Amino acid sequence: MKAFAENGLKANLYYYDSTDSTNERAKEIYEKDGVYSVVVAKTQMGGKGRNGRSFLSEEGGAYFSILLKMDGTEGYAELFEAVLFAGLAVQDVLDQCGIRSGIKWPNDLIVGGKKICGILAQAGYKGSKPEYMVLGIGINVNQKSFIGLEDKAVSIKMLSGKEFDIGNIIAKSVKYFAKYVGGGRKKAFEQYRKRCITLGKNVEVFTSDGSYFAFAEDITEEGFLKVSRSDGERLSVNCGDVSIREIVN
Ligand code: BTN
Repeated sequence: MKAFAENGLKANLYYYDSTDSTNERAKEIYEKDGVYSVVVAKTQMGGKGRNGRSFLSEEGGAYFSILLKMDGTEGYAELFEAVLFAGLAVQDVLDQCGIRSGIKWPNDLIVGGKKICGILAQAGYKGSKPEYMVLGIGINVNQKSFIGLEDKAVSIKMLSGKEFDIGNIIAKSVKYFAKYVGGGRKKAFEQYRKRCITLGKNVEVFTSDGSYFAFAEDITEEGFLKVSRSDGERLSVNCGDVSIREIVN
């Protein structure tokens, strides 16, 4: 992140009417030409979500990836930082559209229990050193409906009745992201803790071995979710290993 912050957001911009996944394009562009990029697509045929899921990417959404230079010294905490900055930046953009969203740890933006933005972060390593990181962001902007996903997804248009300029939403998200990078980790973490709707809730934590119920207490400096189980055991869960579901009583 340091290298990125020093360099400002000097990245090449690529646009596709349609591609499989902007994350994959950004990685391919980096592998081929060694350049840092912002890759935008009008639609994605193979949009990727977290935990191996797919991400519905029909026309009307904002689909873009930011490929960031790492300086090789970053640990998990610094990689997580980028995810956190991205979530805060998109939340600010949604605010400007009149949409109040909450951040579900680690990085889904939620309105009324439905997802309005998802972020997929992937790191590229040279040996054991992080070389780059791709932040893939999908924002539901002008979609009129999500057939079959009515209880899971919502768009800005469905909430506000208004259409928004997708290019403008992407440009602002990138700009605010750069602003959070410049503002530093401490300030962003304070904001994140305030805006994270997972904290103070009962959750179900899903791991590869099964699931358990717990109370979400805090976010660690590395970005892990600190939970306490009903048997009193306290654990820090890593977003790469688990997914969580809020329990509504
Ligand atoms: C999730 O909610 O699980 C993450 C979704 C991330 C979707 C974005 S859309 C742009 C970028 N390209 C992808 O294939 N995925 C991300």
